[in-house]
Amino acid sequence: MEKTENKMEKIVSLCKRRGFVFQGSDIYGGMAGLYDFGPYGVELLNNLKSEWWKAHTQYRDDYYGLDSAMFKDPKVWVASGHVGGFSDPLSECKKCNTRIRVDKELKNIGISADEKMPESELQELFEANKNKISCPKCGSHDFSPSRSFNLLVKSNLGDFTGEGKDPVYLPGEACQGIYLNFKNVVDSTRAKVPFGIAQIGKAFRNEISPRNFLFRTRELEQADTQYFVKPNENKEEYEKIKQDRMNWYISLGIKPENLKFVQHENLVFYAKDAWDIEYNFPTGFDELEGIHDRSDYDLTQHMKHSGTDLNYTDPYTGEKYIPWILETSVGMGRMFLAFISDAYSEDSLGGETRVVLKLSPKLAPIKVAVFPLLKNKPELVERAYAIYKELSKIMKVEFDDNGNIGKRYRRQDEIGTPFCVTVDFETLEKNEGVTIRDRDTGEQVRVQEKDLISYLTQKMA
Ligand code: GAP
Repeated sequence: MEKTENKMEKIVSLCKRRGFVFQGSDIYGGMAGLYDFGPYGVELLNNLKSEWWKAHTQYRDDYYGLDSAMFKDPKVWVASGHVGGFSDPLSECKKCNTRIRVDKELKNIGISADEKMPESELQELFEANKNKISCPKCGSHDFSPSRSFNLLVKSNLGDFTGEGKDPVYLPGEACQGIYLNFKNVVDSTRAKVPFGIAQIGKAFRNEISPRNFLFRTRELEQADTQYFVKPNENKEEYEKIKQDRMNWYISLGIKPENLKFVQHENLVFYAKDAWDIEYNFPTGFDELEGIHDRSDYDLTQHMKHSGTDLNYTDPYTGEKYIPWILETSVGMGRMFLAFISDAYSEDSLGGETRVVLKLSPKLAPIKVAVFPLLKNKPELVERAYAIYKELSKIMKVEFDDNGNIGKRYRRQDEIGTPFCVTVDFETLEKNEGVTIRDRDTGEQVRVQEKDLISYLTQKMA
């Protein structure tokens, strides 16, 4: 399918219609940059998280899992640099007050710019080019000067003064909890450098212009790994981590031609190197996941600001050092959008056009749908329901006896169910087993009921 705005609209519409994703606070008119995951969406999201989690904490023995508290000592965000420098360049349309993100608008007209550039440099570029930028709402070119806008979201947790003093911040990025617990993990496990910590956690950002559905939101969830290595032993491991992350997407079905590595041109001062894995979203190639070589910045900062010694002592040589950190970080919403977008197809099967989500069986929200051929034959319904109950003990299954078989197939195709099992008269009268229909080919095979579980589990491995 061609890359068009239209494809994004189709995905948003499918997500709403079939209960994958809803606009946040929908019944109140919706809130920008916030989304709720519906019944099928939460299944897909959980399957993505589970595959990511297993890839690090189950298939590897050098990663440790973590789930840290969202709220942290406010000094954490000073140490991390977020209070001082976590900002995006903002400008306001003088006619209608619509806010734009300056670096993104410059990029849209082909000028190389990003939020890490010095404020003065961005302002100069903006001044020179703002006549080519139109306000997305009223079309005017009359903008206020670019200024930095801090993205941290404040809360009043534990502040009973009612005066809003001493804000406690919501996390601007999830990974800070990993740095805070580096020492705890070393002290409480057998972790030895090199090793990693994996965490999936929420983050909040006052994004100036949330956009493109799940791509840029104000509340997000980040799947992060931080890999701790000996100083200067970063290069080889960094390359391995980059490849592992790329291979992970491909192993779960993303088409390799829709993924690419892009190196950052502007590095933050402490970074040794930074690459993005970009995905070919319906709006074009853009950042899916960041892979950052962060040197010893994070632990050094937290050691300075907390007063706690975060040096690591090599158990074999006694050498003491602050480990360097290699980070991977991906927003779960962006990941979700990439997988849905890659799986979304329109094809024709048996002379009928259909929408089908060709998701890997590992990710599909429903693994198997079970149907009785006819709704008004109690013996078919009973047998199909018994099979559904049995399969439900080991996988997510749906029972459907509504409408004709063709309609039921279409419904399951749209949500990506890889297999549909039908109980018909041959099942009951001739003991010929059930039919299993393959989502992608439409082909059907007959399988004896006693072999059903092993057939399906093999197909899904
Ligand atoms: N700890 C590093 C960090 O937070 P980042 O590049 O700001 O780095 C990492 O974010 C990833 O989080 C991005 O690659 C993207 O997948 C996701 N992300 C960042 N901001 C986002 C937003 N506003 N909405 C959705 N996902 C976002």
